[in-house]
Amino acid sequence: MTKSDTGLRLPVERGCPFAPPAEYERLREQAPISKVRLVSGTEVWWVSGHEEGRAVLADNRFSSDRRKDGFPLFNVDAETLHQLRSQPPLMVGMDGAEHAAARRPVIGEFTVKRLAALRPRIQAIVDHFIDDLLATDQRPVDLVQALSLPVPSLVISELLGVPYTDHDFFQSCTAVAVRRTSSPQDRRRALAELRAYIDDLITRKEAEPGDDLFGRQITRHRQEGTLDHAGLVSLAFLLLTAGHETTANMISLGVIGLLTHPEQLALITADPGRTPMAVEELLRYFAIADTVAGRVATEDVRIGGVSIKAGEGVIVSGLSANWDPAVFKNPAELDVERGARHHLAFGFGPHQCLGQNLARMELQIVFDTLFRRIPTLRLAAPVEDLPFKTDAVIYGAYELPVTW
Ligand code: HEM
Repeated sequence: MTKSDTGLRLPVERGCPFAPPAEYERLREQAPISKVRLVSGTEVWWVSGHEEGRAVLADNRFSSDRRKDGFPLFNVDAETLHQLRSQPPLMVGMDGAEHAAARRPVIGEFTVKRLAALRPRIQAIVDHFIDDLLATDQRPVDLVQALSLPVPSLVISELLGVPYTDHDFFQSCTAVAVRRTSSPQDRRRALAELRAYIDDLITRKEAEPGDDLFGRQITRHRQEGTLDHAGLVSLAFLLLTAGHETTANMISLGVIGLLTHPEQLALITADPGRTPMAVEELLRYFAIADTVAGRVATEDVRIGGVSIKAGEGVIVSGLSANWDPAVFKNPAELDVERGARHHLAFGFGPHQCLGQNLARMELQIVFDTLFRRIPTLRLAAPVEDLPFKTDAVIYGAYELPVTW
């Protein structure tokens, strides 16, 4: 351990959803950027401050390219590293002009205006799963299986033109991939199976492009003479995996957050006009993708009072930044009227979440509809007994028993 090493080993197990691990607070109080180690022993920079987090994520001297030496990777063996370096990167792992060229053609699919057209369909999907929930005699019901997972899975399936009948398959592949306790072999197998499935799907769509996101991408690339099968497969793979597991976990945690803070829930049920702001606060509070924003410095950078050398890895902690008291007063207080839009739950800078407007819309519709239609909804187990995803890259709950 070097003199500057703070003793923190990443990933830190996140036991309870209502507070970051104690080590996070300790580190942020000491310095906004400090040195920590991954469990593998590799030293990386840990960015805990909100201002410094935004500065790193907006600075093009930090690369997202996972193939570069020094990029902070969790739980990868030599074989996974070899694969990562021999395959074309996903958009989330590209930099500069290559990244802009991959992101530009799909931005139009995720604008607020474009997504507004999807609102009635998303509402119908949410109502459909709540109808099923209300029709069951069974109590308690696991809300993860009944609502949190199926809503975003069906929404993203329809948007991309992926058959929803295959949802068990793509959900289980993603679940293995995001679990830190999965062996590298299991994770590789799950991702390879999912990629092969998507490759086949894109091949079929190239033969007969429909009116879904990929149909439109294929037609557009054909017209421009830029059709790139591997690029489309990578895009589909990223959107499908990023598009359901994240939102599903936020639905579950949002429901837990609101049910355990009834005075906050009452504010939104009294006036659904408050729901968009409540969603921002829930995103801030839970920061489910805490350690997703890794980077590696491509040159020496002086930032937040430290000197980061070229080749050194950096992790911007979304959770720590979102609980930075310099920006969010009394961060431990869940306050749906806070106006927390500048949180880092969706990242910041060029890689800021492409699907954020879709996620926001799904969360708003789910919370409004669920608590309006089932006003007596309550947790069927003490919150401390719930199985939280302490071992996953994306935080959430494995099960959420509810009754009414
Ligand atoms: C509550 C739900 C979600 C959360 C918390 C979340 C979080 C994030 C974060 C933190 C990043 C930045 C990663 C980085 O800087 O390296 C990101 C990127 C991304 N997200 Fe999301 N996400 C959510 C939902 C979605 C959805 C619904 C989709 C797709 C439909 C999506 C697609 C993407 C894509 C494609 C990127 C990469 C963007 C780029 O590299 O330019 N996400 N997300």
